[in-house]
Amino acid sequence: MGNAKKTLPGLEKLPRHVAVIMDGNGRWAKKNKLKVALGHRRGVETLRAIIRESSDLGIEALTLYAFSTENWKRSPEEVGALMDLLLEFFTSEIDELDREQVRILILGDVDAMPPRQRYALYNAMARTKSNTGLKLNIAINYGGRAEIALAAKRMAKDVQSGLLCADDIDEQTYSRYLYTCDLPDVDLMIRTSGEMRLSNFLLFQCAYAEFDFPAVLWPDYTLEEYHASLLRFGSRERRFGGR
Ligand code: IPE
Ligand code: IPE
Ligand code: MG
Repeated sequence: MGNAKKTLPGLEKLPRHVAVIMDGNGRWAKKNKLKVALGHRRGVETLRAIIRESSDLGIEALTLYAFSTENWKRSPEEVGALMDLLLEFFTSEIDELDREQVRILILGDVDAMPPRQRYALYNAMARTKSNTGLKLNIAINYGGRAEIALAAKRMAKDVQSGLLCADDIDEQTYSRYLYTCDLPDVDLMIRTSGEMRLSNFLLFQCAYAEFDFPAVLWPDYTLEEYHASLLRFGSRERRFGGR
């Protein structure tokens, strides 16, 4: 990428699109005998560092899983803490992200978010939409199956109104109706904390992703760990079904 500020020695192939399931904040808090909200707070520090590093390395797209449609099941106290952190993050970071030319896209049902968070999320997207640097996508109130169902619904409406011809629907058309519409497929999917599942994240977009499962909790995931994930990706042989 032309806008890289630094390179990683030994890494020849940079993934175009990195996705991260930031998992392990709860266990980190428990391990350190702290409240879960403090685990999430430490998690935001890691997130900040990973965003900056991705931008500096010239990675085209970074997609972070911040809150799933299933995470509403957690206690009101924990959900409240996460909502507060979300607002705090966007309020405190938006100036710098904008200055760094980061383009923010929120994947998920933003309309169903509480009003202040909804406003901050729409504002972040509107303000950065013409930026030309890192494409930063944050999945909030996101579910992969819900995204696929929503795309089908939107396509059906466009067929009904004559904007789309049913016979023209193919994989490319489908992907344009997803939240991730203009983004490349995921090349590298990282999930921290040792769990090895997708938890309803980017089901369509991960068809040929490489997976990396570092055994560290998200607040302990350092830049060195991130570099190691990228280097492991670089050493993989991707076949896409061929020989
Ligand atoms: C991930 O950390 C962050 C969110 C889901 C928002 P967790 O809170 O799931 O951490 P663990 O899995 O309980 O350790
Ligand atoms: C996935 O992690 C969601 C986020 C990281 C935001 P969870 O911790 O919610 O997933 P499960 O419940 O372990 O599958
Ligand atoms: Mg978890």
